[in-house]
Amino acid sequence: MPTGGTHGGMQEAILLVGGQGTRLRPLTLGTPKPLLPTAGVPFLAHQLARARSFGVRRIVFATSYRAAMFADAFGDGAAFDLEIVYVTEESPLGTGGAIRNAAEALRCPPEDPVLVLNGDILSGHDIGAQVALHLAEDAAVTLHLTEVDDPSRFGCVPTDERGRVTAFLEKTPNPVTNRINAGCYVFRRSVIDGIPAGQVVSVERETFPGLIEAGAPVLGYADSTYWLDVGTPAAFVQGSCDLVRGVLTSPALPGRTGEALVLDGAVISPEAKVTGGTVVGARSVVGAGASVRGSVVAEDAVIEPGAVVVDSVIGNRAVVASGVVLREVVIGDGASIGAGNELTSGARVWPGIDLPARAVRFSSDT
Ligand code: GDD
Ligand code: MG
Repeated sequence: MPTGGTHGGMQEAILLVGGQGTRLRPLTLGTPKPLLPTAGVPFLAHQLARARSFGVRRIVFATSYRAAMFADAFGDGAAFDLEIVYVTEESPLGTGGAIRNAAEALRCPPEDPVLVLNGDILSGHDIGAQVALHLAEDAAVTLHLTEVDDPSRFGCVPTDERGRVTAFLEKTPNPVTNRINAGCYVFRRSVIDGIPAGQVVSVERETFPGLIEAGAPVLGYADSTYWLDVGTPAAFVQGSCDLVRGVLTSPALPGRTGEALVLDGAVISPEAKVTGGTVVGARSVVGAGASVRGSVVAEDAVIEPGAVVVDSVIGNRAVVASGVVLREVVIGDGASIGAGNELTSGARVWPGIDLPARAVRFSSDT
């Protein structure tokens, strides 16, 4: 847990939540990525609670895809001791266009720092220290940077010896450093107001390169605390498990940290093994001898006796029959996996699909 507290001036934030979450299909067919249940609560609850702990009081949600669902989930923000307002793009404006559009709802003066967050990030970094650096250096923008093994999937961000960002290379096949954009920015508000209004703009491909080109002070705040983009099924499952196990602490976790988080009305056989930070959602059932490790089981699902589920997501009302083995897979809502099936490595079963049982054949039944 961060120590929190208020930080001079930074009270407002913009949260980017308009993306379609394509890499997380079929989970995101009905629910936007930022609302997927993660460690027992909508993903964003973790980010909201963290932002609040660093002094943010008011958050503008920049929505587009399935916009109304965000207000249904978070309302006016009172449950988080925040004021939440919603701004919706009729058609998606891109990350930069979304920030510019959301800024219409900000109240702070031009010189104030505004926090901008990608809506799919779990991070343990000290937002207060990032804001303090931004203010001390009077930067135009200060980017949180982290290091990853494969920077080609992210925004590659080289800096000079004083921490000034020297280039911004979004999803380049030839990254010059492992240091990447971690998706949390502090903007001087007037810099946001300088982004052209009412048009599609990418903050990564246009705004940041443009500011650097123009010689504006763009700073990096680099650290190596916990960081994860939950944009793929494997990362989504890992993030949920890390929160349940307390690898990353979250003020929004609805229970104690441990090997499993069992939600209201779920029934787990005393002879089942549920480990590795697994969540078992409300009213779901795990039968005797079943083993569920490092997974997210949604609501009203059934894992029958003897089934094995590892590093996977099991959707609402899905049924996993006895003896089935699932590893690193996503099972959509209402799907049913019949006995004898073994699915591995990235398989995805669409909602409502019924995979028939596979008879185990003996030589005598031919
Ligand atoms: N409102 C709105 N409108 N939001 C959008 C739009 C849009 O048109 N497009 C994307 N977003 C939101 C997404 O919902 C997400 O929260 C955030 O912007 C980033 O989009 P992603 O689709 O998750 O981008 P990414 O993960 O490929 O890359 C971004 O994040 C990386 C860190 O995780 C970039 O910022 C990279 O530079 C960065 O390294
Ligand atoms: Mg992302």
